[in-house]
Amino acid sequence: MRFGFAKPAPSGPVSGDAGYARPLESGTLDVSHGVILYLEDITVSFDGFKALNGLSLSIDDGELRCIIGPNGAGKTTMMDCITGKTRPDRGTAFFGQSLDLTRMREPEIAAAGIGRKFQKPTVFERHSVFDNFELALKQDKRVRATLRARVDDAARDRISTMLQRVGLAPQADRLAGTLSHGEKQWLEIGMLLMQEPRLLLLDEPVAGMTDEETERTAELFLSLAGHHSLVVVEHDMAFVASIARTVTVLHEGRVLAEGGLESVQNDPQVIEVYLGR
Ligand SMILES: Nc1ncnc2c1ncn2[C@@H]1O[C@H](COP(=O)(O)OP(=O)(O)OP(=O)(O)O)[C@@H](O)[C@H]1O
Ligand SMILES: [Mg+2]
Repeated sequence: MRFGFAKPAPSGPVSGDAGYARPLESGTLDVSHGVILYLEDITVSFDGFKALNGLSLSIDDGELRCIIGPNGAGKTTMMDCITGKTRPDRGTAFFGQSLDLTRMREPEIAAAGIGRKFQKPTVFERHSVFDNFELALKQDKRVRATLRARVDDAARDRISTMLQRVGLAPQADRLAGTLSHGEKQWLEIGMLLMQEPRLLLLDEPVAGMTDEETERTAELFLSLAGHHSLVVVEHDMAFVASIARTVTVLHEGRVLAEGGLESVQNDPQVIEVYLGR
């Protein structure tokens, strides 16, 4: 879906191919079966309460998946399991064909290529936008190991590409603390993208954004899909409608419905869960 903003845009993420010269390389992750994330029968209990209760889900490589569901459905807990923050009591979680997420620690999972965006922006407020990207780049061990002498030029190139991609080039010298809420979110997303994650998990990314920021975020996500796989948890249904391909509805810790937005919105069980109480 296109939004038809006048070009050149004053700010905001770029649309189209997001400045990618080529698709990201597959690296060592085995996605030969086309699946980047596979969850089966995941259960997580807190003091006997099952926040996840037999959750099974499969995300294709390059897919943009929206996850919706009422408060307490287990959406954030699902992300906690994928990123190693919470250990499931039971179940299977694979990243690609061969990485068993239930056996990996949080930093290993991040290094393997799963990036996570929490709801609240966490940027370095007293540093410029450019410096925030530079700090993010320094987290990338490959840069330190392989570029050394050329790190400045190479880093500058990567940062300027990312500034364009997330639409913050005009704000490069601003202190991050002075950005709008939406701009901070784009900055943090850009910082995550500096690590070139294969899978990006975004928990309520447009909460608190203006309508225009929300529309620009939709364009950004659409432009990232294919280059990355995205799992987007969101309550904002207008936003979901603008980016949705396949939508998964979670309820009481498991998948209630899955399919195109219209089909899940017309699902009697989904209607019951959202409206029936
Ligand atoms: N650390 C925890 N200890 C105890 N209960 C928890 C913990 N984390 C989550 N829960 C419970 O698990 C259930 C699922 O929570 P979760 O945060 O995953 O829901 P959600 O779908 O993300 O909801 P929301 O849309 O409100 O963000 C809730 O009932 C929550 O209270
Ligand atoms: Mg949540």
